[in-house]
Amino acid sequence: MKLFRQLLTTSLVAATLVTSGGVAIAAGGGAELEHFTPVRTDKALQRGAKVFVNYCMGCHTADYHRYSHFARDAGLSEQAVVDNLIFTTDADGEPSKVGSLMESNMTKEYGKEAFGAVPPNLALTARSRGVDWLYTYMKSFYLDESRPLGANNVVYPAVGMPHVLADLQGWQQLVHETDDEGHEKNVLKPLTAGTLSPDEYDQTITDLVSFLDYLGDPNREARHSLGIKVMLFLLVFLVLAVLLKKEYWKDIPHNT
Ligand code: HEC
Repeated sequence: MKLFRQLLTTSLVAATLVTSGGVAIAAGGGAELEHFTPVRTDKALQRGAKVFVNYCMGCHTADYHRYSHFARDAGLSEQAVVDNLIFTTDADGEPSKVGSLMESNMTKEYGKEAFGAVPPNLALTARSRGVDWLYTYMKSFYLDESRPLGANNVVYPAVGMPHVLADLQGWQQLVHETDDEGHEKNVLKPLTAGTLSPDEYDQTITDLVSFLDYLGDPNREARHSLGIKVMLFLLVFLVLAVLLKKEYWKDIPHNT
């Protein structure tokens, strides 16, 4: 019994540690996260993929995925993907084939040397970090001359990644403010304008994070609709089974 109690306590402590660790990450190290709901339409996925291959795949890989699967899932022909979305090359220097994995051409060694950290595979980041974190992260880069690449991030302090969308968003700066009740807080204020308006930038990040969410769970829609069909089937089957049971038992006297 004593052993059982000890085991129970240990597992409870472990579970608390795991969940509290998860919350700390989800909260982005104390920074407030914006709520984000991914959009799963062909058009949003296509636009998001365009941002991803143009601005992210120079460094990041998503190599659990094949271009051809994406074509199928986003309602594109394989030719359209070849023409518009493949900028990487294979080992022979030829453009990657539509059936190949979405691999970046940057080597891990180069990434480590240039940025101090290897750009991680982004295929499952939407699941490990959550979409709220990703959305907020992509909107939280700010100018910081003290960093090697001139950029820092509110939800990922001292990040090794440069602000790759600075041309689109423009630069923000971190301003310390005291509100009416005397609470100090850091807020991001626009410093320079980018080629996109703030609304257009938000839309771009919505598409991008929706695409990253798709990478993390490409079959969610199909799984959900199949789940509903299975539940409906079970319900119909239950009614049939009850009727059948009544039919079988109706001629058997109850008091025997
Ligand atoms: C110039 C190279 C480069 C490009 C381009 C780039 N990144 Fe990064 N990214 C990095 C590096 C390096 C890190 C690791 C930072 C660290 O750990 O300090 C990183 C980290 C990240 C992380 C954090 C992942 C995690 O779980 O810790 C996310 C998310 C991310 N990048 C998304 C993007 C997206 C989306 C794009 C395209 C819009 C992009 N990156 C483009 C270099 C790049």
